[in-house]
Amino acid sequence: MLVLDSKQARHCAAALLLFTLTLGAKAQTLQDKAERLLQQMTVEEKIGQLTQYSGDWRATGPVTFKGNHEEGIRGGQIGAMLNVLGANSTRAYQQIAMQSRLKIPLLFGQDVIHGYKTTFPIPLAEAASFDLEAIERSARIAATEAAASGVHWTFAPMVDIARDPRWGRVMEGAGEDSWLGSKIAYARVKGFQGRQLGDTDAVMATVKHFAAYGAAAAGRDYNSVDMSERMLWETYLPPFKAALDAGAATFMNAFNDLNGIPASGSQYLQREILKGRWGFSGFVVSDWGSIGEMVPHGYAKDARGAALAAIKAGSDMDMESNAYRNHLGSLIADGLVPATLLDDAVRRILRKKFELGLFDDPYRFSDAKRELAMLNQPAHRQAARDMAAKSIVLLKNKPRILPLSASGKTIAFIGPLVKAVEDNLGAWSVKLPDVDYSKFIVSQWEGVKNRLGPGSKLLYAKGCDIEGERRDGFKEAVAAALQADVVVVSVGESAGMSGEAKSRARIGLPGVQEELIKALHATGKPIVVLINAGRPLIFNWTAEHAHAILYTWWLGSEAGNAIADVLFGAHNPSARLPISFPRAEGQIPIYYNHFNTGRPVSADTQDAFKSGYIDLQNSPQYPFGFGLSYSDFEYADLKQDRQKIAGQDKLTVSLKVSNTGRLAGDELVQLYLRDRVASVVRPVKELRGFRRIHLQPGQTRELSFVIDREQLSFFNERLQWAAEPGEFDLMIGASSADIRLRSSFELTE
Ligand code: NOJ
Repeated sequence: MLVLDSKQARHCAAALLLFTLTLGAKAQTLQDKAERLLQQMTVEEKIGQLTQYSGDWRATGPVTFKGNHEEGIRGGQIGAMLNVLGANSTRAYQQIAMQSRLKIPLLFGQDVIHGYKTTFPIPLAEAASFDLEAIERSARIAATEAAASGVHWTFAPMVDIARDPRWGRVMEGAGEDSWLGSKIAYARVKGFQGRQLGDTDAVMATVKHFAAYGAAAAGRDYNSVDMSERMLWETYLPPFKAALDAGAATFMNAFNDLNGIPASGSQYLQREILKGRWGFSGFVVSDWGSIGEMVPHGYAKDARGAALAAIKAGSDMDMESNAYRNHLGSLIADGLVPATLLDDAVRRILRKKFELGLFDDPYRFSDAKRELAMLNQPAHRQAARDMAAKSIVLLKNKPRILPLSASGKTIAFIGPLVKAVEDNLGAWSVKLPDVDYSKFIVSQWEGVKNRLGPGSKLLYAKGCDIEGERRDGFKEAVAAALQADVVVVSVGESAGMSGEAKSRARIGLPGVQEELIKALHATGKPIVVLINAGRPLIFNWTAEHAHAILYTWWLGSEAGNAIADVLFGAHNPSARLPISFPRAEGQIPIYYNHFNTGRPVSADTQDAFKSGYIDLQNSPQYPFGFGLSYSDFEYADLKQDRQKIAGQDKLTVSLKVSNTGRLAGDELVQLYLRDRVASVVRPVKELRGFRRIHLQPGQTRELSFVIDREQLSFFNERLQWAAEPGEFDLMIGASSADIRLRSSFELTE
């Protein structure tokens, strides 16, 4: 512990005060500058600052404006762009903006969701790592690369809680748990925004989609959300608040309506909660076309009505709806929109442009030399490989056939994804126009082949396609399996089967892939299944019969190397599922932190007159927090320093974890709490802590958790954040369904 004498302490306090004052003064200067600029702007130029269009790269939504962007930029009618890629292209557009009357620089936004040129695992996969530092590093690297390419602003992190794997965008978030999701949201914002905005390796984060988009009914994208206030505050809003606490510069609203009001037109969400109660000082961008979509929603008569609803609600920037550009002027002229409302939105955007330093040098992010150097850093690839290995979840290893020996073995590597290349990037990856991705991505075939030791042989057969009914490749696949010591099958979705607008009503393994696994299993050879997907899939037969299963999600540029690291034991898996895997679509929504109900059913039975199904148990195929290791861990000696706490007291619990296996490895120890009786019913358990611990074979270590009032708090019956006195159950385990140690304590006041 660092101990300071009183002189040092005074110095530190003075330095801190100076730092705070400097920051304050800097913010004040920026505000003054924004204010002075605002005074010089015409209404049309102000509306320009609220207008964003897609550039020449792949459109990420239906394009509505068919005119010439150059003219609009030169005329001061466009303040921001998205989908303009690369230092040269962003510079070229910025040069046009510098020909406008007031020379207000453009903002360039981009969906930098999981990496830029170096692609990291999809966010859901990264969440499985439960490694907040690695997640922050991944966002940091993505920001460093993107910022060198002229990007000022990423449309990430997506912090929508998702309990419905039919929804294609489940791949883009952190899964089902609000508490874990909040930690990850915080880490991602810190990663993207780095030390401070204004540094040339920092990009503004966008927290999206505000709010409750993850609860789209029936898992259908863009669908309605009908949700209680309690559910909204307790489950869906906390990650947004955490991202805001991390300093997120911008928010994006959402396509869905929430209880009948489209999010883009919701004054409650944007003005009352975000800008009011939470005091958010950044700006809100609409989702792509979401302002205009208030017309088909039936909330606005026409685009003019939509513009009116959106500006009143607090949507500051219109992405691709054309509604502000076409209608705000007349709405102001007709006195329907007060000029102060327009000024508030413009001010919020200008301040960010000042903060980014764009008025000092509009090209400071568009530096082709820096771009070249940054985008080819071996350290980035190494981090992507590390993150990818940390994201792979070992679902089964019985009998223990993993890790495989790399020497003296014949391995049949079979399946439609073995030699796939771009699929490994998953949805929402940035594919730069001038990069040959076939050379930049390590395929699974390449990764495994490069790892083979002496005397080993790799056989290949595709077996079948991802989709479709063709079984004519089965014969060749079975023949390869028969010659091998072990069969590794790589199956799953194609990358394009998850992501935006990729909802699936049936989430089984597509096509005849599970039949292929059956045919290979019939050879009697040991079978390892790799499942590549952007969501939890249902694969009950495989779960029962395959000997080993690795859930690989989409792992990015280094997929093949990371898979080889895990298959051959260079990396001992320690990832955990951030979302429950159902046994059948009929169980959805399925999540671990449900209420008990008045007629609880034990997880694996179907008792009469209980809250279950008559044709299936309630439990998921794989629960939240589940994941195996090549080692075994035992938990013992739970100790707690007190039985009762009051006020701001803290309770410390400790336990011992031992590695009883033969390999060194990490165990992810999870702490769950349950408030037994409260003014509103509480979930059967809630994650409130996790610790990763590295143990050598035979090693035992003690670890502890500290529980404070904050972890016991919830939104009470008046929706106030509070802890209520009473008994709490404390559960420590290896997953939400594998509780190894239990105790209880009391909060007395
Ligand atoms: C629509 C998506 O919902 C949003 O997440 C994304 O940032 C925008 N398109 C821009 O591509």
